[in-house]
Amino acid sequence: MIKPLHTFYLKNKRILMRVDFNVPINNGRVVDDFRIQSTLPTIQYCLEQGAGVVLMSHLGRPNGKVDADLSLMPVGETLSDMLEMPIKFSDDCISEDARDTSLGISAGEVHLLENLRFHNEETQNDPYFSMLLAKHGEIYINDAFGTAHRVHASNVGIVDHFKQKGIGFLMEKELKYLKESFDRPRRPVTLILGGAKIGTKISLIQRFLNKADTIIISGGMVFTFLKAKGEEVGKSLIDENGVAIASQIIKEAKNQKAKLVFPSDFICAKNIESESIKIYSRRKIPKTMMGLDIGPRSIERFRKIISSSNTILWNGPMGVYEKDCFSKGTSSIAEKLVELTEADAGQITIVGGGDTAAAIRSYGYQRNVSHVSTGGGASLELLCGESLPAFTALG
Ligand code: 3PG
Repeated sequence: MIKPLHTFYLKNKRILMRVDFNVPINNGRVVDDFRIQSTLPTIQYCLEQGAGVVLMSHLGRPNGKVDADLSLMPVGETLSDMLEMPIKFSDDCISEDARDTSLGISAGEVHLLENLRFHNEETQNDPYFSMLLAKHGEIYINDAFGTAHRVHASNVGIVDHFKQKGIGFLMEKELKYLKESFDRPRRPVTLILGGAKIGTKISLIQRFLNKADTIIISGGMVFTFLKAKGEEVGKSLIDENGVAIASQIIKEAKNQKAKLVFPSDFICAKNIESESIKIYSRRKIPKTMMGLDIGPRSIERFRKIISSSNTILWNGPMGVYEKDCFSKGTSSIAEKLVELTEADAGQITIVGGGDTAAAIRSYGYQRNVSHVSTGGGASLELLCGESLPAFTALG
């Protein structure tokens, strides 16, 4: 049984917390603080309860070497601004100095350790490295959802060194929405899929063929499905390796609960750079054009499906949303989810991690849906029904 944070007595304890502060950094500054923001409630709760908090995270993939560009120092600065207090920072995660700093922190103080992956032992789940990390705290809390699918020293090997261990609020929230919402879902359930490649979404589609009532297939990946159906898609993106899989999914869907829904029109251009756009119905895309967003009729239809659903999971943008002229499909879906959530009639709106989370955050809507996942690979694996090593280790 995994213990949630609120069941621990934290006063005057040192909490060693695994967080996922793997965030984009440019010129020494954090450019997207979503993952840091999402962990704040857990950190603040520990501080308010009178604990000292030692934070550890990875950043990027430095392959066991110290890389100044992947230092967590800028993250520390951002965190300190968010908490409105100074925090301590150690330039290594297992040095004696770092350990002494952790042993010396008082109630209400925060100590951030340098990038765990400056040591190869982290990704190797090395037992001795786990033991050294464990010396930083008395209670172990994992709130690093984005890394929950990895078997690493700081989230798996370390667990055996603690009697008192559990998960933070972010992990609880991710489990609630990405797992529990689909154990006995409020129907109708709609899965909205987009993004370029079907490769990473196959298991998700297959799992939801008998979980969802409707699966909307859109984004770049839809053209692989349309090609599999023998339709003309012009120069649109095709994942050649995915055509056979798409055919198989279309066939399987015939005997399953979920109905597959495809866009009926597209915003097209000669290439991705062009801003000279035209709307074409599906099957009518000229050979010289490519579909780069869904068209107005598709938007209308998808919004209607969303309105009549009670649980909606969205994973993958509808088009090349980074460009204004191809962003309407993605922004319209985001707006509809926000509208539904704000109506407060019990519908659950969940946005998967990665590109979809980035899209919804670019509109500033991250707090206006039920949940935006902080995980990329971890959220897909959890949605596919897999057990994630970080949870298994704590269970
Ligand atoms: C992520 O960004 O998906 C997580 O932080 C995990 O990072 P990784 O793929 O480098 O293990």
